[in-house]
Order: sequence, then structure tokens, then C-alpha cells
Amino acid sequence: MDRPEQRAANEPTSLGERLAALHRQLLADVPHVDRIGCALYDPKDDLLKTFLHSTLAGEALRSYEYKLSASRSLLDLARRGGRRLLTDIPADLEPHNAHSAWVIEEGYRTSLTIPMFGQGVFTGMLFFDSRRPNAFSGTEQRQLELFANLISLLIAGELLSIRALAGSVDVARAFCDLRDFETGTHLERMSRYARLVAQELAPDRGLTDEFVELVFLFAPLHDVGKIGIPDHILLRPGPLAGEDWETMKTHVDRGCAVIDQMIADLALRDLPNVVLLRNIVEYHHEFLDGSGYPKGVRGDAIPLEARIVTVADVFDALTSPRPYKPAWPFAEAFAELDRMVAAGQLDAAVVAALHRRAAEARAVQDRYRDDRTKPRRP
Ligand SMILES: [Fe+2]
Ligand SMILES: [Fe+2]
Repeated sequence: MDRPEQRAANEPTSLGERLAALHRQLLADVPHVDRIGCALYDPKDDLLKTFLHSTLAGEALRSYEYKLSASRSLLDLARRGGRRLLTDIPADLEPHNAHSAWVIEEGYRTSLTIPMFGQGVFTGMLFFDSRRPNAFSGTEQRQLELFANLISLLIAGELLSIRALAGSVDVARAFCDLRDFETGTHLERMSRYARLVAQELAPDRGLTDEFVELVFLFAPLHDVGKIGIPDHILLRPGPLAGEDWETMKTHVDRGCAVIDQMIADLALRDLPNVVLLRNIVEYHHEFLDGSGYPKGVRGDAIPLEARIVTVADVFDALTSPRPYKPAWPFAEAFAELDRMVAAGQLDAAVVAALHRRAAEARAVQDRYRDDRTKPRRP
């Protein structure tokens, strides 16, 4: 089937491709840059996470997270700006973490690290690495610094667009006083379950770190269409039936309309991966056997990003208390996911990936507990 939306993660205009194009240009001025790496900072977890890279040869470092506060020199850069130059890595850097060990093992000798800031706030790190010792002259370092500004603008532009989108959804939710019990911590947990699964699937499926982060950023928007569902249906405890259930199911189409409107209003048409968001909203209630809604599409017609979000969403619903049911223990929730796989509804590989990351899923659940068992009513 010809489905252009499926190409989203690998579109030639993705950030990764644009970084690779910039890297090729840069080589004309600074010939010994063998790798450009970009890690984003998540202040909530104090984690620097690999996001983009352009690597000329050798193994790429991917899916790596590092506590910023664990590295004094990186923390210093984040606080004060400037740059860090290592001219003989095996001598300068102790292999005390996976990143250092990887840099040494891959034969990198010089590394220039430059922090990125957006409106004065630290947003991440750029690494320019070379396999030559002492590879960058003073002039070249200044060129790399200029170049770093360009890259951080490129990234900031796209991240701003994504955050503008997420922000306007938050505003819309607040404006409509959405008092669904599926809010707040549900979104924190399910988006993190989705990220664990995407990370776990990445090596086999060739998923980029960019894909993983976008699934995480977009997952909380899956039910944005519930904004348009009347309170007497949305807030009713217990399963819905008849016309009310039909109305509830329209939240998917309403969500697509909201997203399309936001894309138009915020001029995000050019944001290459916005289709990932659209897919998450459009397909998050579809099942592989065609028994889902609203379209009842099956199999390959359901994009991977939506399959991941579906499993994360169902798993959190099972393991959280609801006005009409207690929270299920993990073992029972996993048994239910397995049953849904056997019935042909959920993606077996996605569920298996969540199984393998169960310990981390547990930590997510512990961290983002929801004490509310009932909808918040004024
Ligand atoms: Fe939904
Ligand atoms: Fe949900």
C-alpha cells in the first residue's frame, strides 16, 4: 500500500539529514571533524540524552543517557557556557562511563564540546569529535563555535515548534477545563512507557534517537480530541454504552481536527515529523486485527508510533486505579497484554519490548503516582 505517512521517521528533511548536510559543508572549512553529536538536556531527570548525530565512519553512539551532574566539566559548561577542548582523549578522559568508553574505543582523540542555549536556558550539548589528536586549530575552534550556533538554532527551531504545539494543547486543555481522570500523571507515565518501548525496539528496527524522543514528546497528545467530549460522558465512571460510547469514540476524529488546526495555525506544515503526531492521534485505538476504532484498519496500516502508544496507554490504564476498578498488579497487566497479543490485537514485538523494560516501567510508576482515584470536580 502506498502510504506516504509511513515514511515520516526517515524523511530526507529530518533533522538528522539536515545535520548530515551541514556536516558535509563544515568539512570544507574544518576537515577533521569525523563526528558531530548532539545531546538534549531534560531538566526533569537531569539527563543528557543522545538525540542527533552525523558520523562519517564507525559505530554511532545511540540511545545513551547521562546525568549532567555526574560530570563536573559538562556541568560547568552548562552553567557558564564556553567550550571544552580535549586534545588527547585517552589521556584526558577516564573511561568512567559508557560515553567516555565508547569515545575511546572508537578511536576519537580530539573532542570540542559546546553547550547549547535557548533564550538563556541550557538545552543540550554539541560534540565535535576527530580521530586525530589536537585536530582543531584556534581558528577552527572559533569556526566550530559559529557552526554550533547554527546547529542549535536548527534544533531549537524544531523543538520550539514541537513545544509550541504541546504548549497550545496544554492551554486548550486548561481552557476547556478538561477534568478527565486520565490526565496529569497518566500522561507522564504512558509517555515514558512509550519511550522505553521505542528505545528497546530501536536497534532492531533502525529507529533513530530523534524518533524515540518525538514519540515521547507526542505521546501525551494522543487524547487531545477529548477536549470536545461533553463532561457528562467524559466523566462518567464505568464503561460507556450506546450513543454515549459512539460519542466517546469521536475523540479520535476530533483529535485529528485539533492537530490539523494547530499545524495550520502554528505554520508547522514544514515540521517533517509532525506526521508522527498525527499518526499517534489517528491510530491510537486501532488494533492489528481490525477490531479497533474509528476506522477498523488492520496490520501494516497502523504505524509503529501508534502501536507503541496504544500499548503504553493500555498498560497504564490497566495498572492505574479507576473509579470503577482497582489498579492491576504488573503481572496481571502483562498477562492481559499477552492475551491481547494472542487475540491479534496488539503488536507482539511492542509488548515484548515493554516486558523487557518492566523494571524501568516500575520505576516510572513509582515516580509518577496518581493519588486521585476520582475525577477532580470543583
Ligand atoms: Fe483515546
Ligand atoms: Fe490515554
